[in-house]
Amino acid sequence: MKRVLVIYYSQTGQLRDIVRSTVGPLEADPAVEVVTLEIKPAQPYPFPWPVGTFFNTFPETVYEEVDPIEPVTMPANADFDLVILAYQVWFLSPSKPTTAFLRTPEAARLLAGKPVITLIGCRNMWLSAQERMKAMLEGLGARLIDNVVLTDSAHSAFTFISTPAWMLTGRKGPFLGGTVPEAGVSQEDIAGCARFGRAIAAQLPTRSGGDASPMLSDLGAVTVFEGLMDSEKVARKSFLIWGRLLRACGKPGAPLRSLVLGVYVLFLFTLIITVVPLLAVIKSLIKPLAKARIANQRAYYAQPSGEGRALLAGEAA
Ligand SMILES: Cc1cc2nc3c(=O)[nH]c(=O)nc-3n(C[C@H](O)[C@H](O)[C@H](O)COP(=O)(O)O)c2cc1C
Repeated sequence: MKRVLVIYYSQTGQLRDIVRSTVGPLEADPAVEVVTLEIKPAQPYPFPWPVGTFFNTFPETVYEEVDPIEPVTMPANADFDLVILAYQVWFLSPSKPTTAFLRTPEAARLLAGKPVITLIGCRNMWLSAQERMKAMLEGLGARLIDNVVLTDSAHSAFTFISTPAWMLTGRKGPFLGGTVPEAGVSQEDIAGCARFGRAIAAQLPTRSGGDASPMLSDLGAVTVFEGLMDSEKVARKSFLIWGRLLRACGKPGAPLRSLVLGVYVLFLFTLIITVVPLLAVIKSLIKPLAKARIANQRAYYAQPSGEGRALLAGEAA
């Protein structure tokens, strides 16, 4: 009997659906025992988010100053052959509840020395968050063997509107009379996650404990959006600079912080509608010159599962 620990937090239920679809084939397998650990913030985050609370969350999220979560209850001798850690991205970082969990002594005990598959459900900007996740897992002595990423299927220009609209109104859309498609990961993509569960169920019984090779290669586990690689770096730097400034202005709700936050939100929107498209144009112009660098970067971010899709044709998702 192989034991799989599944850890997740989900605010709207989207990541819970992704987890359920992925884990379904494992739960149906009599040779596998699945134990699920849901991370619960001690004080739930509001949904829909009041606009001020939403933006005020970014400095502490980026600087990983977490809020308390409910105690993690797991027997002291609990031991697993595989851990699936599902998380969402908040401001280019792992969400606060996820980071809070990774800081607990239970996380250290459950993850140390274990193979871990990360499962991300987010809008489309996950590269920087996964870099932080890799560092945190390494710090816990865990081995990252796969990364599966589910993103919104609509074009970035639309999800730039639909994701915040969803978070701030609680409605997924469509918006603007149908011009902007519904926010979130598509039902088809969520259902398709079952292929990962099937692949894990097929390999787990014969896999040795020390095996660090991926289990989910060639199943379309990730797609790296080239156009976002540099934008994420710029955006993360800006989050770190403004985040430091905002934290120096006081706690969320302090008058000076609210004022500077207003300026920042204006700055951010100006940046997104000017610098981001400009960077994309410049990048497409210099693409032939930077081809090798871009390909290297893309392959790096796609690890450990890679972008291969060779096994997808034979998969009834
Ligand atoms: C505060 C906040 C910040 C977010 N920042 C990002 C982000 O930087 N990149 C991204 O792709 N998605 C971002 N999202 C979208 C989430 O990753 C996720 O898709 C959405 O919150 C639904 O997840 P759920 O399962 O917790 O409901 C953000 C959401 C919230 C609430």
